[in-house]
Amino acid sequence: MNVLGIESSCDETSVSVISDGKILSNLISSQDIHKIYGGVVPELSSRAHLQMVMPLVRQALLDSNLEKDKIDLLAATAGPGLIGALLVGLTFAKGFAYSLNKPFVPVNHIEGHVFSGFLMEEKPEFPFLSLVVSGGHTLLLLVKSDVEIVKLGSTIDDAAGEAFDKVSKLVGLGYPGGPMIQSAAENQRTDFVNFPVSKCKNEFDFSFSGIKTSVLRFVQKEYGEPNKIPLEHLSLIAASFQKSVVRALIEKSERALKQHHVNSISLVGGVAANKLLREEFSKLAERYHKKIVVPSLEFCGDNAAMIAYRGQKVYEAGFRYEFSFNAYPSLSDYSFIK
Ligand code: KG4
Ligand code: ZN
Repeated sequence: MNVLGIESSCDETSVSVISDGKILSNLISSQDIHKIYGGVVPELSSRAHLQMVMPLVRQALLDSNLEKDKIDLLAATAGPGLIGALLVGLTFAKGFAYSLNKPFVPVNHIEGHVFSGFLMEEKPEFPFLSLVVSGGHTLLLLVKSDVEIVKLGSTIDDAAGEAFDKVSKLVGLGYPGGPMIQSAAENQRTDFVNFPVSKCKNEFDFSFSGIKTSVLRFVQKEYGEPNKIPLEHLSLIAASFQKSVVRALIEKSERALKQHHVNSISLVGGVAANKLLREEFSKLAERYHKKIVVPSLEFCGDNAAMIAYRGQKVYEAGFRYEFSFNAYPSLSDYSFIK
């Protein structure tokens, strides 16, 4: 089966063709325009998707050596995400499917991330624990099968990636925050400041908005404003913050591992690119003798290969969709995550 997938939920336009689960092409165009604003500007994102989607679809077909009528299924991210951005990829996919007389499957972006581990050579084995850490979501999931996903916990306020982005902005490191904080923190000691991560009622939930406020208070108290932070302190603050976030993510994952039987553990989403988190997650897998699957960097961030793969699984599970299916901004509107 040949599947063409489109991802346009945020600031990456991506188009991928997979054939029987094998990736023939996975093109990702990142929108640099947002850097000057320090965060994603939704309308600019929609316009950039509009410019990129058609050339990327053409190029993906060329790279895959496939004529368009050889595509059996069209899949596109339908949500959650920026509504205008989603509509570009989704509407294009529906129109393309209609013109080719082929089925179309809307894909939940978070589920795309959850199943991105299956694009790797070593695949997760059901049931598996999935820690999803992206710019908009942080979830701890028990994945029992392609269509049974149990939510153990999630963030009650900011997502892990959002915390990286906000802290990076407030200390003046810029956007996207995750990679900036990571490189500032590289080889630095982590005990400069103790930034506590708030506790939650549900033992598997996360809360990252308090740590952002702690960093803000610390900067205001010690330096007055961000541009007065000495360079060496900036690195130490970044390292202390990164350690606290990673520790909270690992602690909750470990708690889940103690209470639920799983065969594998998987770390996915944009923040899964974080070096310290990858290291600590693999130590966790070692401690509990679990198979670990963490996608290579290309498949941690937003990409259409995971959308194509997930679309195929949903289609194979027997789900069919009308062309009237619309984009949705929040996770709960259309999801196999219960
Ligand atoms: O999954 P993703 O590409 O988009 C969403 O679905 O949100 O995740 C983007 C998030 C951003 O918040 C970005 O700062 C974060 O992933 N990120 C990182 C790293 N690389 C990207 N966070 C920490 N460390 C990194 N190396
Ligand atoms: Zn994402």
